[in-house]
Amino acid sequence: MSPDDVHADPTQTRAWQRLALLAATSESTIRELLDEDPDRVKALTHAGARVHLDLSRQRITDDVLRALLDLAVERNVAARRDDMLAGVHINVTEDRAVLHTALRRPAGAPQMVDGTDVTTEVRDVLARMAAFAESVRSGAWLGGTGERITSIVNIGIGGSDLGPAMAHIALEAFSDRSLAFHFVSNVDPTDLVEALRSCDPASTLVIVASKTFTTLETMTNAHAARRWLVESLGDSAVERHFVAVSTNAEKVSEFGIDTANMFGFWDWVGGRYSMDSAIGLSTMIAVGPDGFGQMLAGFHAMDEHFATTPPESNLPLLMGLVAVWNRTFLGIGTTAVLPYSQYLARFPAYLQQLTMESNGKSVRLDGTPVDYETGAIFWGEPGTNGQHSFYQLLHQGTSTVASDIIVVARSENPLTDQQDMLVANALAQAAVLSRGRTPEEVAADGTPAWLVPHKVMPGNRPVSVISIERLDPFSLGALVALYEHSVFVQGAIWGIGSFDQWGVELGKKVAMGILETIEDASAPAFDPATDASIELYRRLR
Ligand code: F6P
Repeated sequence: MSPDDVHADPTQTRAWQRLALLAATSESTIRELLDEDPDRVKALTHAGARVHLDLSRQRITDDVLRALLDLAVERNVAARRDDMLAGVHINVTEDRAVLHTALRRPAGAPQMVDGTDVTTEVRDVLARMAAFAESVRSGAWLGGTGERITSIVNIGIGGSDLGPAMAHIALEAFSDRSLAFHFVSNVDPTDLVEALRSCDPASTLVIVASKTFTTLETMTNAHAARRWLVESLGDSAVERHFVAVSTNAEKVSEFGIDTANMFGFWDWVGGRYSMDSAIGLSTMIAVGPDGFGQMLAGFHAMDEHFATTPPESNLPLLMGLVAVWNRTFLGIGTTAVLPYSQYLARFPAYLQQLTMESNGKSVRLDGTPVDYETGAIFWGEPGTNGQHSFYQLLHQGTSTVASDIIVVARSENPLTDQQDMLVANALAQAAVLSRGRTPEEVAADGTPAWLVPHKVMPGNRPVSVISIERLDPFSLGALVALYEHSVFVQGAIWGIGSFDQWGVELGKKVAMGILETIEDASAPAFDPATDASIELYRRLR
């Protein structure tokens, strides 16, 4: 593919212009679309890698869908996908390949990157992780005083925390319950102190997870945890109680962790795409190497689906195109992720980094500014809890919010009819958000006229329903890969760089300067507002 294709302005494509026209002229509501076409649900529901995606409650007509698929062709999405899968340096601002898909390739499926088969190294690391995870699970790995490890503290932030923390909760039903896991990310000392409160240094393993091994929060917490350990067990205990997950062997040794206890990954794995790399060490300890292998198989099944399924039934492609339609053409600024599974409590937080750090960009790959909306704001909470909190705004507020409702059919904890109740609520919300309730329907219930406007539900809120049979390691992998590739599709359409994150860098640098001034009032001043805030903080602290 020529670089011109990548940099071209998408608004100049025929399909884009057609979509803009369709958005301005489409008048059918989701309710009308559903009621007028008896085949709609079947036509807009697709499955792959054990995930079912129902787009029938989206505001898309046949014409819109055709134009979106044309847009994918005009934007060369398939060629860009193939470039990504082949290891082309599509992360242009950092000159890197984007190859998280290589982390989950099965044995016998080589992946060349810059002339080397990277799957050999991937498998070596997986084998070392497996041996280590097994030794912790079996009790063969002992702490400095000969005690078995029972507490595991993962110290990391962003992609080195959110994936492992999310997966820990998601896969609790498959985890070794004799091990307690803690995830420490915030530089607020409370995070570490509260996590260590229930840990005994003699039976605690600390995983320092940082791609760069330079991140302020992680290194500060790692040093504090090291002091906590050394105070009771001495320096010599560090090698039995600290392991590292990183790409930076030099910094790992400088910290005092033997590189024999370091599990590596590579610059072609972005932080937010790394939960299936060594960053998932805590996940592997929790669910065992087999469980981790099943998770990788789920990721890979979705990768294969994305790479080989025709566009009309390709889940990540359709999901990504619908996201572009909602965000750019319908002007819907936010997507609520509403998993009807308590085990997916941290899934919305995980997706916030995946989606917003990837597609929160306002210049194209060649640096030219976009003049259309890109990445939506993602947020959410599990249902049914959210129903008793923010759903009021989803139903009757003045902003339109798109929703992803995630349904898990089989509970790992069946209790009477609670699972049926949970799913009934998920489907009720999908129906009410998309179809609404008209004044006539409200009045027909005998509601007095003055109360009718308060009870009307505008509806027409776009909803995707994503269903899986069970939340097991395979399906979790497939679900995450679905979102990863949807994010890729959106970025490819918008022509932005989904794999860098320059926007988070400046804040880190400025914070270091402010820290200096907080500690030494004679250090450089900033702007008037910041200086006043520093002064107030110095007085209050
Ligand atoms: O804050 C941005 C970021 O670079 C994320 O992209 C990344 O996941 C996180 O920081 C943590 O980085 P590291 O793993 O290098 O500590």
